[in-house]
Amino acid sequence: MKNVFELTHPLAQHHLSILRATSTSPAQFRTQIHLLAMLLAVRATDDLKLQPVPVVTPITPMSGNCLSQRVGIVPILRAGLGLVEPVLQLIPDAAVWHVGMYRDEATAQPIEYYSKLPEENAVDVGLVLDPMLATGGSIKAAVVALQRWGVKDIRVLSVIAARPGIEQFHQEYPDVKVFVACIDPELNSHKFIVPGLGDAGDRMFNTQR
Ligand code: PRP
Repeated sequence: MKNVFELTHPLAQHHLSILRATSTSPAQFRTQIHLLAMLLAVRATDDLKLQPVPVVTPITPMSGNCLSQRVGIVPILRAGLGLVEPVLQLIPDAAVWHVGMYRDEATAQPIEYYSKLPEENAVDVGLVLDPMLATGGSIKAAVVALQRWGVKDIRVLSVIAARPGIEQFHQEYPDVKVFVACIDPELNSHKFIVPGLGDAGDRMFNTQR
């Protein structure tokens, strides 16, 4: 799949295995998400454009570089919140726009409950953050909102995806780049990723019932 990128770094596999385990505590789960988000963000931004900037080192003046593109981070609430801080650490000047969505338990369709995306002055690059792409419905809805805003370069950062969901997403949005730590083979009858990691939002915020 052109424009779908799966991390191959051994550290991604290492941290993902800890993330998946039922025995992993919410605190450790948040740490693993943080580490994986950083690995994803490094990979997803390796072609951002630069402009020269004068720098004076203790030895001599020189020409350095700074980012020339405006980056917007769009976490999908709730679970996407866990990826915000690491991405902001790498891109401190990024704007953060929240989109609230939950999946209806009966239909697995995304229900939007919060969105404050502006209608003009779109960022150059929009990074959609959500640790899970199951059916892909939530990420699709976020991508549509970013397109409506006018963002031309949209990239999705997701820790774990299900193959049927990511294939369907890629078919509908072949130009949107998707960066994932791992693509799992299937969805179960409840549209949960298999083998997956359970419900990322509940595990992150310790709200499992
Ligand atoms: C989960 C997950 C994604 C979505 C993935 O959110 O965090 O947002 O489902 O499923 P999809 O690809 O089939 O749309 P959930 O509804 O559990 O909300 P939460 O983040 O508030 O826990």
